[in-house]
Amino acid sequence: MRRALVVANWKMHGDRRFITSFASQYGDAPVGVDVVICPPLAYLAQCVAAFRGRRIRFGVQNVATVPSGALTGEHAAEMARDLGAEYAIIGHSERRSLFGESDAIVAQKFQAAKRAGLNPILCVGETLQQRRSGRAHATVHAQLAAVLDNAPAPALEHATIAYEPVWAIGTGATATPAVAQDMHAAIRERLGRAGVAARTRLLYGGSIKADGAAALFAAADIDGGLVGGASLDATAFAAICCAAACAPCAATTNDTTGTQ
Ligand code: PGA
Repeated sequence: MRRALVVANWKMHGDRRFITSFASQYGDAPVGVDVVICPPLAYLAQCVAAFRGRRIRFGVQNVATVPSGALTGEHAAEMARDLGAEYAIIGHSERRSLFGESDAIVAQKFQAAKRAGLNPILCVGETLQQRRSGRAHATVHAQLAAVLDNAPAPALEHATIAYEPVWAIGTGATATPAVAQDMHAAIRERLGRAGVAARTRLLYGGSIKADGAAALFAAADIDGGLVGGASLDATAFAAICCAAACAPCAATTNDTTGTQ
């Protein structure tokens, strides 16, 4: 039913030489896995050219809420699409905490990505303080509700949800498969009310490494990963993609790669 998906979030890293070298070291997406690379926008066109002929797809890490306008420094979802992107990471915790993106703005960006024909990858996740105070589920549900309550069911087609506990991002502290699965199951249940639970891919993100990836991907509701730091190493990223190929969800799916 659901095909495995592994997404590289390069954040604000890399340059032209890095991309040439990464493309020569990384082979191709393993059979049964959709692989998406989200480079800095400035290098999107170079990435598309560097991987031409392979099954790799591309995404951006952010989009503006509107298609054009006097918004110095912003880039529209339509522009990303024009450059070859098919996916857009929406509401990453760094966007929320460092750039002041509220749930309402995240919801607008989700719609902006859909409008442009990009597949949104909506990030949700709680802080350590929220988890310690027993509010992890409530936090994630509120983040989901902000988008899902305003999105008609068709808007959720081709969308992906990434559960990224903030305390695990870039810290080396990966959530255990049990902790991640617990939240993924809750997210899937929430999607059930929107009628898209079975088809929506749910990714785990937060310090995924090659050696722990297989255990995470084996969990029933984890369909792949959103990978930050480890995606900058072609060998480590290839190993993570291979781990997704071996996970049960990858065994039985039709190809959902591409835009709607
Ligand atoms: P990390 O980043 O793998 O470096 O923790 C994940 C992310 O921020 O998407």
